[in-house]
Amino acid sequence: MDNYFIKGGKKLSGEVKISGAKNATLGILAASLLCDEDVTIENIPDVRDVNIMIDAIKSLGASVNRVDRNTIVINAKNINTTFLDNKEMGSIRGSYYFVGALLSKYKSAKVIMPGGCNIGARPIDLHLKGFNALNANAFVENGYIIANAENLVGNSIYLDIVSVGATINIMLAACLSQGSTIIENVAKEPHVVDVANFLNSMGANIKGAGTDTIRIKGVKSLHGTNYSVISDQIEAGTYMILSAITAGDIIVKNVIPKHLESITAKLLDMGNTVITYDEAVRVIGANKQLATSIKTMPYPGFPTDLQPQIACTLALAKGDSVIVESIFENRFKYVNEIKKMGAEIEISTNTLNISGVDELYGAELTVSDLRAGAALVLSALAAKGDSKLVNIEYIERGYEDFENKLLALGADIQKN
Ligand code: EPZ
Repeated sequence: MDNYFIKGGKKLSGEVKISGAKNATLGILAASLLCDEDVTIENIPDVRDVNIMIDAIKSLGASVNRVDRNTIVINAKNINTTFLDNKEMGSIRGSYYFVGALLSKYKSAKVIMPGGCNIGARPIDLHLKGFNALNANAFVENGYIIANAENLVGNSIYLDIVSVGATINIMLAACLSQGSTIIENVAKEPHVVDVANFLNSMGANIKGAGTDTIRIKGVKSLHGTNYSVISDQIEAGTYMILSAITAGDIIVKNVIPKHLESITAKLLDMGNTVITYDEAVRVIGANKQLATSIKTMPYPGFPTDLQPQIACTLALAKGDSVIVESIFENRFKYVNEIKKMGAEIEISTNTLNISGVDELYGAELTVSDLRAGAALVLSALAAKGDSKLVNIEYIERGYEDFENKLLALGADIQKN
């Protein structure tokens, strides 16, 4: 098992190019099973969760040709099973998208229950509710999601909680169904829109992605496509916050600045300078961050996936900050770790009360999940002295070339 060894205290500067969006790619990979022709997907990030999904696609009998590190061609015409029981699949979240895709195309799916980051209870009731509304019989039994249907039939579905996963999964299931489906109170995240755009490029008829209501007219079949995944909003936000926490000067390239507005707004509140270009943002970090209040919200609100990174930055701010985590019930596991570095943070149910300190100090830190891991790396880079991070494989689930990109910005980080 590798560790990161980090010497902190340097102002990081330079340019970083953002990779394709992990969470869009997971949906798109499953969606690529919906036709029998070649589907070429470009700009996929070479990260662990994506590679596990690709292996699962192979195990179903589809052909996968990795043209280069970030481009694959999938052809699903020879799929010979709708049963996915791969242990690794159970370790990622995106595996639930195979249920929507296989149900849509083959009217049957049995998929091991999804795992993913341990950030609290992560029910899938809304996914099942959606499938069942489309005339399927979907349920969980003995650790598997099972879904069967004679015919999928469009319906009106209201999601009582805004859910990225349920929105994408119901879209997958509905696009080959009979008739029309209306899904209300859907997630509007950029990756939801990207999956809808991908499906439309295969011939689906999906309207309204990015608004509160998605309307889908079922079509008989889908065709091959050539599609490039959007850039990763959360990776981009992580490097923007890195510039702030290290008082650096980083140009984050290959981004859609509109998707970064909630992050930009908070970094400005915290005293940083943010300059927006057509496809890049430059963040010039303030020498001292200012305290602020943040509540995580579905898009276009401040993303839960950047909550740990911004909290660690506020640990070094002047004054007291409050963060309310409103999406996941247990996304504060990193707090005990950053306290080892001298941070003063108290947890009260879903709220963090942060009293800014002047310095963080290097420590041995254990990573508990993907974004917590990124946050601890950022903290270690800003801290005085040396840190060692263990369990860094969590970080590799979602950040392509993390240490190389950091090295190019001047970080002192070694993996071994
Ligand atoms: C997706 O998880 C992302 N994962 C997460 O990314 C991200 O944190 C999250 O969306 C929120 O943006 C993938 O895309 C693979 P949700 P997901 O359904 O789909 C509740 C990362 O670090 N809910 O939007 O699991 C749920 O408990 C990660 O990249 C139900 O109650 O999240 C939560 O409170 C981790 N019933 C809220 O909805 C359901 O059936 C939002 O969860 C589904 C969800």
